[in-house]
Amino acid sequence: MSEVRRLLPRPDIQSSATSVERLTERGFDHALSRISTMTSEDIIEEVSASGIKGRGGAAFPTGLKWSSVYKALGSEKYVVMNADESELGTFKDRVLLEQDPLGPLVGLLIAAHCVGARKAFCYIRGEYGEVEQNLADALEMLRMTGWVGPHSVEVEIRRGAGAYIAGEETALFNSIEGKRPEPRVKPPFPTQKGLWGSPTLIQNVETLANIAILFAHDVKWFKEYGTQDTAGTKLVALSGHIRRPGVYEVPFGTALTDILQKADLGGSITSGRSLGAVLLGGAAGTFLGPKEVENASLDYPSLNKAGASIGSGAMMVFDDTVDLSWVLTRMARFFAEESCGQCVPCRIGTRRILEIAESGNLRTRSQDLRELGQAMRDASICGLGQTAPVALLSVLDRPELMHD
Ligand SMILES: Cc1cc2nc3c(=O)[nH]c(=O)nc-3n(C[C@H](O)[C@H](O)[C@H](O)COP(=O)(O)O)c2cc1C
Ligand code: SF4
Repeated sequence: MSEVRRLLPRPDIQSSATSVERLTERGFDHALSRISTMTSEDIIEEVSASGIKGRGGAAFPTGLKWSSVYKALGSEKYVVMNADESELGTFKDRVLLEQDPLGPLVGLLIAAHCVGARKAFCYIRGEYGEVEQNLADALEMLRMTGWVGPHSVEVEIRRGAGAYIAGEETALFNSIEGKRPEPRVKPPFPTQKGLWGSPTLIQNVETLANIAILFAHDVKWFKEYGTQDTAGTKLVALSGHIRRPGVYEVPFGTALTDILQKADLGGSITSGRSLGAVLLGGAAGTFLGPKEVENASLDYPSLNKAGASIGSGAMMVFDDTVDLSWVLTRMARFFAEESCGQCVPCRIGTRRILEIAESGNLRTRSQDLRELGQAMRDASICGLGQTAPVALLSVLDRPELMHD
């Protein structure tokens, strides 16, 4: 399977990314007109029928989330686009917002219309200056055409300040509210109590872009690509020892070897070396060895079988010369620095893992690391602490990937 272009605009589309012409060429004005005549129940039914799952990492069914926010009681409701994107090796939302900001924005407007929100936020990673300008230009155009404004939905852009934890949904709400970006204890979930205690729908940029193309077409069109389990396409961010690093859009079900080797995708491992390992899904992802990569495809059941998940779609490629204990030490430092420190298992656990990694004793202390990992998974408040040991444990489970 080769690259397809649905979420990312086709090369023959020449109009400016934030223009009225682009809105029409991509079918997004049609999408907005179409949903303005639909009931919320019908919109939710279409989203559910498409099978779209969240692209921010957890793959939660989007229709279910919309239904929950729609049904929640509250005089105010909010929708949020999560463009914090600070996961290691993940840069697909940046590319999407640079090339086609109208897709995610139109998805956000559809979401707001559906759940009954009059206010929406775009929360952008602090370093994404160009993205902010692009979004601001796109919003200005949507304001002039009447899709954004006091009589429809007001949209506000907020910039993060460089903390990975601010991408966690409840930490992000605290940040928007002007507080420290510390995750809240769940439940209550954002669908019931999110921003300022009101029901809030938060979605990843790519999820919202999927919503826009779904309503620009229909469920049948949407399902032309993908697998029985997961319809549609996925953006993957390829980095590391790969000839053609970058963001590619591929159908769910594409073989991982195709993504790494096809000439119009990754194009093979650099400098004629062999594959050592792939870290799939970012910092909280799983290392897969060459044999597992050969047998797996980009869909949830196939990767579940290999004990992995797609996560955000990051694929970091390491050739067979790379010492993974060095990589794991860098990752351990990342988590120790990014833990917000609010709960003990994560604050102390990430430090202990870093100490063990720095002492060069990963293999000999594997039992201690497993126990630490279990405690962090069981007792941390949020996904950062719960998943910080996952990549490390995936290497301990595959000792053949370590060279020492
Ligand atoms: C530490 C941490 C960082 C996260 N960062 C992001 C992020 O940058 N972007 C994102 O969409 N989701 C991120 N998430 C997941 C969000 O909490 C949330 O589940 C997601 O935005 C929901 O959108 P989706 O259903 O469309 O995937 C992060 C989660 C954790 C635990
Ligand atoms: S798990 Fe870590 S990042 Fe999450 S709340 Fe606890 S200390 Fe903070």
